[in-house]
Amino acid sequence: MQTQQRDLTQRLNTQLLAIKPDMIHSFDHEVSDIPNIIKLTLGEPDFNVPEHVKQAAIKSIEDNDSHYAPVPGTAKLREAAAHFLADRYGIQYDPQTEIVATVGATEAISDTLRAVTNPGDKVLLPGPTFPLYEPIIKLNGAEVIPINTEPNQFVLTPQQLQAAINEYGDDIKAIMLNFPSNPTGVTYTANQIEALADVLRDTNIIVISDEIYSELTYGQPHVSFAHYLPEQTLVLNGVSKSHAMTGYRVGILAGPAALIGRINLMHAFTVTSASNPAMAAAAEALGTEQGRHDTENMKAEYKQRRDFVYHTMTRLGFTIPKPAGAFYIFAKIPERLHMTDYDFCLSLAQTSQVAVIPGTAFGPGGEGYLRLSYAASMANLKTAMARLTTYMETH
Ligand SMILES: Cc1ncc(COP(=O)(O)O)c(C=O)c1O
Repeated sequence: MQTQQRDLTQRLNTQLLAIKPDMIHSFDHEVSDIPNIIKLTLGEPDFNVPEHVKQAAIKSIEDNDSHYAPVPGTAKLREAAAHFLADRYGIQYDPQTEIVATVGATEAISDTLRAVTNPGDKVLLPGPTFPLYEPIIKLNGAEVIPINTEPNQFVLTPQQLQAAINEYGDDIKAIMLNFPSNPTGVTYTANQIEALADVLRDTNIIVISDEIYSELTYGQPHVSFAHYLPEQTLVLNGVSKSHAMTGYRVGILAGPAALIGRINLMHAFTVTSASNPAMAAAAEALGTEQGRHDTENMKAEYKQRRDFVYHTMTRLGFTIPKPAGAFYIFAKIPERLHMTDYDFCLSLAQTSQVAVIPGTAFGPGGEGYLRLSYAASMANLKTAMARLTTYMETH
């Protein structure tokens, strides 16, 4: 049948049409065909999923666990998540009413932002930050208010927060936080969180705290924002980073029952529920002692890699905020090179076959930086650092 060619794209949602493709994936794509390239671009753990976790998923399939799960997730996973959050971070949630299992932290971010914002609302977004938040905020017709944290070693200060509140007042619906941070690897101390919580306590601002990297901190233990401001905070977590389970797609959302009840509706409209085998695996990962050890082992490896890359790049003249968590190095490109971050990353990929992401991909405050993901094998990191050394010696 012959059909007439028509362009219907302009009939699509105007907010969607206004959104530019994300630079992490476009840059990664741009350099992927370079022969022999070592890609340190994506935030993807390189470990296999631990065997006992895999077995839990297999058992779920073999037990014909094939029917719709309860909308907020299986009781077993919600109990495991409540236990995990209480045990690791001292934050208490009722698994019946205060926890939802989502399809990755991504769905939790999307459900939460869509549930919280109306068109015209403002959302504070300290950055540089994970590029997923901004498009979701904008898709809802809400407005991003960026706060550049670069001048303060990538930590939002209470003064910056107070200044934004003074300027925008009640129009601010929420603040989106992420620590340990993608892309900077910087995290917040208990004192820093407490100071921000003190500013927020007298407001109606909802804190959306993406703590997906909470289990990957090197040195200081993770402190959840909910520890200081539970009544206003929605905590996002999951197993993607802690257990190298990105492809299983399980996230965790926890918060006050009244808010969670409503966000659970958004979750129901979006996916009905997460998948049973994946939730069985996540319950095993979060709910068992062995699951804790898995993360400890991965973390010890990440730490070695971080130290190696940090020391090498510092020696080569990069300025790097000491990464205390996640698996990223956010490095300031030496000024003597007189290159934008995009030109530097493209030149490095083309001449030395090492791919990293330009800092501008992460919004205001990222200009002049690059993000390197050290969730890669030590062998690849060694080759990459040798190539970077040659590049720096010849430029
Ligand atoms: C800060 C942050 N939040 C959320 C996610 C997405 O997590 P998930 O794979 O569980 O959807 C990522 C993945 O890179 C991330 O870096």
